[in-house]
Amino acid sequence: MLGLGNMGQALARAFLAHGHPTTVWNRSPEKGDALVAAGATRAASVADAVVGADLVIVCVVDYVVARQLLEPAADALRGRTVVNLTADTPDAARELAGWAAGHGIDYLDGSIMTPTVTIDTPDAVLIYSGPAGLHQRHAATLAALGGAQHHLGTDPGRAAAYDVALLDFFWTAVSGLTHAFALAKAEGIDGADLAPLAEGLATLLRDSVAEHGERLDAGRYDADVAGLGTIAAGLEHVVAASERRDLDSTVQRAALAQLHRAVAAGHGDDDVSVLSATLLAEREVASRA
Ligand SMILES: NC(=O)c1ccc[n+]([C@@H]2O[C@H](COP(=O)([O-])OP(=O)(O)OC[C@H]3O[C@@H](n4cnc5c(N)ncnc54)[C@H](OP(=O)(O)O)[C@@H]3O)[C@@H](O)[C@H]2O)c1
Repeated sequence: MLGLGNMGQALARAFLAHGHPTTVWNRSPEKGDALVAAGATRAASVADAVVGADLVIVCVVDYVVARQLLEPAADALRGRTVVNLTADTPDAARELAGWAAGHGIDYLDGSIMTPTVTIDTPDAVLIYSGPAGLHQRHAATLAALGGAQHHLGTDPGRAAAYDVALLDFFWTAVSGLTHAFALAKAEGIDGADLAPLAEGLATLLRDSVAEHGERLDAGRYDADVAGLGTIAAGLEHVVAASERRDLDSTVQRAALAQLHRAVAAGHGDDDVSVLSATLLAEREVASRA
């Protein structure tokens, strides 16, 4: 186990709890103390850690660091399996997979979609991409991490692509959540009072997710709830009310500008899912320019 930050420690604890002999290494060795007390072996270097390992798990801050750790140990890693559970971009994952292939290292990329507390519980969600056989070979060991574990395809960048898309959804939605509570507070509404009504909207959002995907796949954008024109009017009120209270609304203005572009392109009566399609169309135009 290379990397003993919050997540790396949770992963190592899970392997130990399931009886897998586990060797740990971290730049700051003291983060391994509790794991060593629980039965892990501490290695003095990455190369020492991987000797004799059937499976090498990496979980550090990003792929630049992951590569810095793996490169000096390339000879020791030859013929072994590396499962990289660090989060980064799809291209970074493909690049590291290419490097590993060039050194005779079996490489599986992965992303952890849930927080540390879910590891070794049914709530954990882990996704993988890369050689399917490699995932199957180690599935029984990786099962120690708990929950649902999905292999999403052979492209090593695919797990990271899911990861960044889901992070996009979650953190952009959280940005809206934080702004909404600030706006409510600026209007004298307590967080506790807004929360139950906000939860109702979160349910609506959750219930719209599958339909959004289906509409985009089918290219079907006829609105049966509200068209973009109506949605833009609502967001204009949000921006106006925020600015009246001197609350920064950079994010809401950017979302409004996107809505206005789509309305100007003739989508005023279409469903909100058309915004995914217009973003992709804008990307096409930009790539041709
Ligand atoms: N935490 C979560 O709930 C969660 C959930 C899903 C996914 N993840 C992903 O899991 C990965 C690790 O997250 P974390 O929460 O464990 O982060 P963290 O607690 O900040 O740990 C970062 C790890 O990276 C190491 N590191 C950073 N810079 C380094 C360098 N220059 N050289 C060597 N090692 C270096 C740290 O070593 P030191 O201890 O020596 O600083 C530590 O082991 C990230 O990709 C994150 O996105 C985390």
